[in-house]
Amino acid sequence: MRATSILIQACFIVAQVASYSTGIQNTGSNAYWLSFLTDNDDVDKVLSDAESSGLRIMRVWGFNDVNTVPSSGTVYFQLLQDGKATINTGSDGLERLDYVVSSAEQHNIKLIINFVNYWSDYGGMQAYVSAFGGSLTSWYTDSASQEAYQNYIKTVISRYIDSPAIFAWELANEPRCSGCDVSVIHDWVASTSAFIKSIDSAHLVCLGDEGFGLDIDSDGSYPYGYSEGTNFTLNLGIDTIDFGTFHLYPSNWGVSNSFGSPWIAAHGAACAAAGKPCLAEEYGVTSDKCSVEGGWQATALDTSGIGADTFWQFGDDLSTGESPNDYYTIYYGTDDYTCLVTDHVAAI
Ligand SMILES: *[C@@H]1O[C@H](CO)[C@@H](O)[C@H](O)[C@H]1NC(C)=O
Repeated sequence: MRATSILIQACFIVAQVASYSTGIQNTGSNAYWLSFLTDNDDVDKVLSDAESSGLRIMRVWGFNDVNTVPSSGTVYFQLLQDGKATINTGSDGLERLDYVVSSAEQHNIKLIINFVNYWSDYGGMQAYVSAFGGSLTSWYTDSASQEAYQNYIKTVISRYIDSPAIFAWELANEPRCSGCDVSVIHDWVASTSAFIKSIDSAHLVCLGDEGFGLDIDSDGSYPYGYSEGTNFTLNLGIDTIDFGTFHLYPSNWGVSNSFGSPWIAAHGAACAAAGKPCLAEEYGVTSDKCSVEGGWQATALDTSGIGADTFWQFGDDLSTGESPNDYYTIYYGTDDYTCLVTDHVAAI
């Protein structure tokens, strides 16, 4: 029973992302904060609104690292302190992620769950560095940090290894190794993804990178370069990485919005050449969302090699008020939502 259901699930997921040759087949979003909510009804509302809109994928943070125990009632998943890692499996810990996974099962939503942040939001690699020493560039090879990171991965995967709601395990959010040789991140991706496959061979694995470091159709701008220590094509070639990921934030990267569509096309070409589908995993602008992001969606829709897209980020009304607004948020029920979700789903 168990083996059969895993197999059926794996086939379904692979068929979803693998049928990418004519452009995107599925769409979804990001709601990093979903696993930090403390009210089950809020989690259900978000996933119910997503489901009724036709969104199929939701990417959430599977990490929440701290260096000191926060005040009571504040959710955290792992305490990293004085060279020791303690995973919080309690009601203000991984039980919150448990609820997201069970709610996703009820709402036919597939989750992308990642294991660490490059940025210091919700701890990130810096939280490991604070507890174990080293730096943001040595983190990838630091044995104490990597041991804690892998143990955390194993703990999370073990909880949901049989869940039909897992779309993919993701190594990190936007990993960078500034100024490093691209072999540093490559070697870390190879060993971590192989480790994940050794625990769970039925689910897909992806990296969560921004897509930096690409020579196909490069315009010579910063995002195509290798200064952040990643080579998109090199990492995509790793056997235990099942599909590619890339992000798109022109204003953060010092390029114009018209940079977006060629960036999508270039990654589609790299993915098609590698024989693996890609996910346009995060994209956003803070103004003129409908026209700018709508244009990118139209490009992705017709780009071979792009299997799905997940905009940054989903917004909704919660019992505590509006979900986090980082100015990229597209709230359920707004005109931007109609343009970028309802119309996009209809186009797919
Ligand atoms: C990136 O990786 C590709 C594929 O392995 C390789 O052809 C290319 O030379 C690499 N570029 C750099 C700068 O590492």
